[in-house]
Amino acid sequence: MSQASKERQRDAFTSGFGVLAATLGSAVGLGNIWKFPYITGANGGASFLLVYLLATLLVGLPVMIAEIAIGRRAKANPISALQSLAPRGQPWWIIGAAGMLASFLIMSFYSEVVAWVFAYVLEALRGTTLSSDRKVTEAAFSSLTGDPWRSLLWQWAVLATMGGILLMGVARGIEALTKKLMPLLFLLLVLLCGFSLTLDGAAEGLAFLFYPDFSKLTGAAVLTALGLAFFKLSIGMGTMMTYGSYFRDDQNIPAIAFRVMAADLCVSLLAGVAIFPAVFTFGFEPAAGPALVFITVPAVFSQIPIGQVLMVTFFVLTAIAATGAMLSLMEVPVLILRERFSLSRPKAVMLTLAVLAASGSVCALSGSLLADAKLFGLNMFDLFDFVSSNIILPVGGILIALFVGWVWGFERLWQSVSNNGQLANAGLARLVFFLLRYVSPLLVLIVMLKGLNIF
Ligand code: PFF
Repeated sequence: MSQASKERQRDAFTSGFGVLAATLGSAVGLGNIWKFPYITGANGGASFLLVYLLATLLVGLPVMIAEIAIGRRAKANPISALQSLAPRGQPWWIIGAAGMLASFLIMSFYSEVVAWVFAYVLEALRGTTLSSDRKVTEAAFSSLTGDPWRSLLWQWAVLATMGGILLMGVARGIEALTKKLMPLLFLLLVLLCGFSLTLDGAAEGLAFLFYPDFSKLTGAAVLTALGLAFFKLSIGMGTMMTYGSYFRDDQNIPAIAFRVMAADLCVSLLAGVAIFPAVFTFGFEPAAGPALVFITVPAVFSQIPIGQVLMVTFFVLTAIAATGAMLSLMEVPVLILRERFSLSRPKAVMLTLAVLAASGSVCALSGSLLADAKLFGLNMFDLFDFVSSNIILPVGGILIALFVGWVWGFERLWQSVSNNGQLANAGLARLVFFLLRYVSPLLVLIVMLKGLNIF
């Protein structure tokens, strides 16, 4: 096939704003609204937040820029991209293969959390969970996760929705959705924060989130913060490489990466400020785990006059944000199946969904039938999360940094991120390169060895 017809066959993001919206759509999701508050709560608050910020700036942002640059230069799925850019015989494509595994592990538990969000839209409509009584909101959540059929059926509803949207194609499906609704979610979070700050526990909540107590910081917490930085920016597994392959050649990669990182951080912080004051006001546990958002958010809305309407809106918008992230996760195996195994787009989507229905059910049932199935003390839901976020993504991140820092080299990175010299800021590019070549791999390696108790 000629290069030109290959280009024509590939989807591409149509407008500059579409690129930003879709990349942001991948980054912003349940990681901000669900994961960030719950693991910040479980790891002591402000000191964890600080480490997470450092990890995002020193490792996350450079790796994100590297991934998009690689993807756009190679215009292919992560496996083929690394094969074509690496010297013959060097197996860097393994990053893409590991990414596909990470993608399935993450989708397995992520789709279940999206399932809870879908279920909560209905709960919000019925109004039964709308209460500041901890017993009521906790019971509502555990009756959902403890019911195998409800957990499974909602997950299937999520998978069917994702399948429907993906079959419409990258540009139309993803862009249209994220473009219109992200700003609304942002506004609602601002409103929620404003309200939370009037609660009695506001000072305590803010102190928890912003006043660091370093005695709470363990090696495992530092690794979790690093894992969160990767998970949040959708990096370390080829997702941003995949999206990079849809970028146009005139788009400014570092500027987009920076904006996505900054907006993503804002959304997480807003979610934190909305939730922690309520945690302390209504007597919840900051370390309540994956249930945290689902039990505290209804308590906040129960105190607001039109709380029920806002709660429905909140979960609908969260579902939409989660959908953008979920679609980007699916895009990794879908593109690999299409380009490496010559499957049509519909076939690749159906195969991905079929595998996911099986692997996802293991996570869906880990609150009920499989509650006692544990490995290393973790149930399957937590294990899939731990292995993907705290092991595969950081290792993928080290490898991507090493690839760019030592194999691809500064000149090629510079050509790619500067659009062949048109965008000039060589100083900044050198800094990114330095971080990729030395700082990120070393930092990640040390944090992993410490966090996994290897030394
Ligand atoms: N960044 C997404 C979130 O924070 O919700 C989750 C995610 C999407 C992780 C895509 C990894 C990925 F490849």
